[in-house]
Formats: sequence, C-alpha cells, structure tokens
Amino acid sequence: MEIQNELQVPSHVAIIMDGNGRWARRRGMPRKMGHVEGCKVVEQTVRDAADLGISYLTVYAFSTENWKRSEDEVSALMQLFRIYIKKLLKVATEKNVKVVMIGERSRFAPDLIEGLNELEEKTKDNTRMTFVIAINYGARDEIRRGMTRMAQDVKEGKLEPDSITEQTINGYLDTAGLPDPDLLIRTSGELRLSNFLLWQLAYTELYVTDVLWPDFNKDCLVEAIRSYGKRERRFGGVLK
Ligand code: FPP
Repeated sequence: MEIQNELQVPSHVAIIMDGNGRWARRRGMPRKMGHVEGCKVVEQTVRDAADLGISYLTVYAFSTENWKRSEDEVSALMQLFRIYIKKLLKVATEKNVKVVMIGERSRFAPDLIEGLNELEEKTKDNTRMTFVIAINYGARDEIRRGMTRMAQDVKEGKLEPDSITEQTINGYLDTAGLPDPDLLIRTSGELRLSNFLLWQLAYTELYVTDVLWPDFNKDCLVEAIRSYGKRERRFGGVLK
C-alpha cells in the first residue's frame, strides 16, 4: 500500500518479455527451461500488477515470427500455454482480472484455441484489471488484417473513405476498445520494438532493463514505474 501511495502508477503497462533463452543458456540449460521460468514470472507479474493498481497489463507471449524457432522450442511453448491457461484462469478469478487475447489464434491447435476462448469467456465480467496476452501477434499482421476488413467495409458501402479517422483505425485493430499503453517495458536490454503494437505505442514511454525476463520481479516493475513517474509525458509536443 505504501508503495502505491507514492507511485504514479500508469494505467496501461505493456511488456516485451525477452531473455528467457539467455537465462537458460547462462545456467547450461535448454532454452525451454527459460520459458518455464518465464511463465512463472508472467503469473506473478499479473498478481503484482493488479496489486499495484495497474488497470491494463499487456504481454507479448508469442509473435508471428516465433513460429520460425525450432520445432522443439515451439512445441514446448505450446505445452506451456496449455498449462498456463489453467493457472491464469485461477489467478484471474482470484484477482478479479479480465483476460483478453490479441493476435491471430486460428493457427493454434483446436484444444488450445478452445482453452484461450474459455479463459476469455470465464473472465469477461472481471473488473479490477485487464490482462492482454499477445499470442501469434505481429503489429504488421494486425494492421494488415484490420485494413483488409476496413477495405471490405468500404467496398460494401458501410464506410466512407473520407470519414476515416484515427479512431476508426483503432476500431479495426485487435486492441479496439483498449487504451494505448502508457509505459512499455522491455527486458534483457535490446533496444527494439520487435513488431509489437506499432500503432498503439506512438506516444508510449519506453523503459528497457538489462534484467532477463525470468529474473523480473515486483521490485523491477516498481523501478520501471518510478522511472515513468519522473518523466514529463509529451503527446505530439503537448506536455501532459
Ligand atoms: C523471449 O525470450 C520470450 C519468448 C519468445 C516467449 C515469451 C513467452 C513467455 C514468457 C511465456 C508467456 C506465457 C504466458 C502464459 C502468457 P527469448 O527466447 O527470445 O530469449 P533470448 O532473446 O534470450 O533468446
């Protein structure tokens, strides 16, 4: 509680969870062990974010590019998703968290799609925090899918090209209805966006830490929020 009072907590925190592979390699373990630890940290971070009063937490769990990893690593990740769908349902229920997926889930195995749909359905009325999981997500793919639907609506006469605003575009993205992130955290030091929320991050504050994702904890999250609190945010030149 004390921490919360002195912290200027952003409403929406997005995270690029990087460094699982390096974490494992440093311990002489297979890469998938890094993902095992990474999943535990996801679960704990959902709890911590809800406790800190964050309203929206978005994590990049699996990118459209991640399919190019070895079959062994991809199947380990799929298996972990199966396990964590169940664990996350428990956490979300306990913490009153609504879970939402962004990305294109149709490429996953039918049982996984069913689990993801169920996780969304069973938590849809929860109100304390929204936890957004980007899964088979790529920002360019999201924009392509959204613009295809928009073009279709124009073709069918449902949308006038001259009436298209930024809000209209927001409405065609997977994140329709969600506010843009205030703070983006990237772990393990890389200075890249890696095709994550390219449209939505336009005015987001960026925070990069060298901590590898499996080592990320509540202190790291609080540190990122503190750094955010010290900044003067600008929205296209306007100080807020
Ligand atoms: C990046 O580390 C991490 C990923 C590609 C996967 C992240 C996924 C999780 C932590 C699981 C998410 C789970 C749930 C339940 C939502 P990396 O493998 O790229 O690490 P490296 O850059 O050190 O090789």
